[in-house]
Amino acid sequence: MDLRDSIRIIENFPVEGISFKDITPLLADGEALREAINQIVNHLKDKNIDMIAGPEARGFLFGVPVANELGIGFIPVRKPGKLPYDTYAVEYDLEYGKDRLEIHKDAIKPGQRIAVVDDLLATGGTVAAVSKLIEEVGGEVASLNFVIELTDLNGRDKLQGYDINSLIKYD
Ligand code: PRP
Repeated sequence: MDLRDSIRIIENFPVEGISFKDITPLLADGEALREAINQIVNHLKDKNIDMIAGPEARGFLFGVPVANELGIGFIPVRKPGKLPYDTYAVEYDLEYGKDRLEIHKDAIKPGQRIAVVDDLLATGGTVAAVSKLIEEVGGEVASLNFVIELTDLNGRDKLQGYDINSLIKYD
């Protein structure tokens, strides 16, 4: 199965000039969804991962099933004001705009190996922010995993030294 067949491309969404990669057909197709989860699980299964972390909102869609399959827990990294306990926050640049992400201060035990899962690597700003938060609370970022990578945005340049796994690449 080619997972690429399950991605729908919408031109000029959400703003002019952006070629949006719509994952909803993949989410709607049980076989494609299982294949995407399995490919990420296979990449992570021998890496001694203690927990999965994923950013709101689309990181949750893939992160939780991966964690469940590996039999480990999930850490939600959320947009401002959503987490109820003590948090660390970091501000970051998006492909279009700026945003801020938060993590609970007690989300990770010192030295735990954390794998990040998200739907998309674009500029790398989001996952760089997530990695910074994980390290701030004492975790080790053991792997960064994406369903889709937009290679011409050079997100990997911001992520040197990390293990990076993407299932589908677009130029
Ligand atoms: C999208 C996507 C990634 C991020 C990738 O999330 O789900 O998390 O952008 O872009 P980057 O590599 O340039 O940072 P968005 O912030 O749109 O949030 P959403 O999942 O809640 O729609």
